This record gives sequence, structure tokens and C-alpha cells, in this order.
Amino acid sequence: MSKFTTFAAVAFAVLALPFSASAQDREFRLGLITPPVHVWNQEVAALSDTLSEMSDGRFTVVAFPSGQLGSETTMLQQLQTGALDMAWLTSAEITNRVPAMGALHAPFLVDNIGDAAKVLRSDVAREILGELPRATGTVGVCYAMTGMRQLLTQNPVASAAELDGLRFRITPAPPIRTFFEMFGAAPAPMPLTQVYDALANGQIDAIDMDHESIINFGYYDHATYMMETNHHLFGMVALVSGRVWAGLSPEDQTILRDAIQIHCDRTIDRFVEGEDAKLEQLRQVEGLSITENVGPEFFGDIVARWDAEWAEQTPYVQRMRDLVADF
Ligand code: BEZ
Repeated sequence: MSKFTTFAAVAFAVLALPFSASAQDREFRLGLITPPVHVWNQEVAALSDTLSEMSDGRFTVVAFPSGQLGSETTMLQQLQTGALDMAWLTSAEITNRVPAMGALHAPFLVDNIGDAAKVLRSDVAREILGELPRATGTVGVCYAMTGMRQLLTQNPVASAAELDGLRFRITPAPPIRTFFEMFGAAPAPMPLTQVYDALANGQIDAIDMDHESIINFGYYDHATYMMETNHHLFGMVALVSGRVWAGLSPEDQTILRDAIQIHCDRTIDRFVEGEDAKLEQLRQVEGLSITENVGPEFFGDIVARWDAEWAEQTPYVQRMRDLVADF
């Protein structure tokens, strides 16, 4: 080897070293609709640390909270094109592309959050994630949740008949729309980020919401009657862009999968452990009147009618009902 060749080889190696190290370093951009105070956002911050540890400092996560990157629908499109690396989106959003996931939103599928956790950790639910790459261009790594959903109204409601005609804010998702239409409400689909103002300015009469968000946003400022219905579980899906995923080595895919799974599990555990305390916190809110233990009977035959309609869209409705029958 000539002196020049040796020099060139050494120079290349020296120059290439920092380059190849930084080429592997990666700050994944992760979008969410929830605000920084939400459990999801706290777990995403912790995910960044876990990923960094597991990848010897090569990987971190930067979060874009509160719908900074747009609605969940927009974020899903960004994942599909690879413009966004990761997102923690509601299972409700995914139902727009994957009807099977509508089965997770079956009314009164479970009547407590512990069973909701079991559903989200079940093989049947995981099977549905298998449809995501084709339908959304994303990899669904795992589920978590934001608790059970309740009804918050501006006026007292004594019977299901009184829900008729109410303008109800719902998360934009077909299975949720079906439920509200079945009791005659006028569903108003809108992203989480618009709900507080819509309540404050009287654009809507009522909302479908979980304890965590009711507390975080203080919706009881403008809707002072709550029915503790637990009428459906509200899932989250931790997503990675399929394009981004395909660009990772199998080893790095495993690191991502394992790290994300840890924080899906922690999120579920935190919701299960915290749900009663959140209800207790809501009981202490001055001016908020809570009717507890409102069961499926309040809604008459709606559960059977919802099942009949959604069973035509996906066999998972029956499979979910069969699953919980064994709990
Ligand atoms: C909602 O659309 O109601 C929602 C979305 C994410 C977390 C909590 C609630």
C-alpha cells in the first residue's frame, strides 16, 4: 500500500467514525393529541429514557403534545408517509380505517377497568393490530388506555329519553357515533383539543369522556352533571410508521418494540390503579353532581342493537363478547 493510500484510508476512517455514529443516532418524533399533564405524555417522556438506555444512547423520543401536529387523523396520515415516526393514538381513531377495532368500543363490553386491561392485553385484541400495516401503513406495537368513558352533561338527565336530541361531543369514530345515534343524540365529532371551548360557548350540550381528561381539562366548569356509566373502554395504540420501521435493523426493531411495550404496560397499570382515586377526586369537585352506577339497563336495548349493527362489520364483536364472558 502506498503512503498516500494509507493516509487516505486512515483519514477516511477518522472522518467516517463520527459520521457513522451519528448516522445511527435518532430522535424519533412522536405525536399525541393529549396535553403534557396526561399519563400518556408522562409515559412518552419516560419512553425516551428507556429507549436511550436500551440503545446505548442512540435513540430518544421527542414528543409533540396537544395535537401540535394536527388531529389524530392527520397524524395517522403523517405516519403513513413517514413524515412522523411514532404516535400514541386512540383506538377510536384507528376504527376509521380498521372496523375490527370497533369491537373494543362495544358498549358495556366490560364493566370495570381491570377487565378493560385484560381485554387490551388479550390475544384477540393483539390479533387486530395485525391489520394495521395494510390498512394504515403503521406498525401497532401495543395497546394502552385512558380509562373508562362517562357522560358529562350541562343539564341533569333522568332517563335515556332525555338524551334524545342532545348535541353530544364524541371522538370522531364510527362505533362511537353508532352508540350515540341509537339513543337519538346528535353526535358532534371533534378532536379533544376543541372540546373545552365548544362546551364553554354552548356549541355542544354534553360530552363522552374519561376521568383523566375530565380532571385535566376541568370540563366540569361548563358541564356539571356526570353519569358514571363506564359505557366503553377507551384504548390507545402505540404506533410506529411502517416506513420508519422498515428502515430499522431487526435488532433495533426489537429494542423499539420492547421499550414501547414497557410503557404501554405502565400506562395500563397506572390507569387501573388510579381510576378509583380519580373518581374520588371528581366527587370532591364543588358543583359537580355525579350519578353513580348507571348500568347498561339505563340504555334499554341499545347494547343488543349496537352488537347487531357492528356484527355485520366485524366478527370481532362476537369474539370480544366471548372473551369477556370467560373473565
Ligand atoms: C378524546 O378524544 O376524547 C380523547 C383522546 C385522547 C385521550 C383522551 C380523550
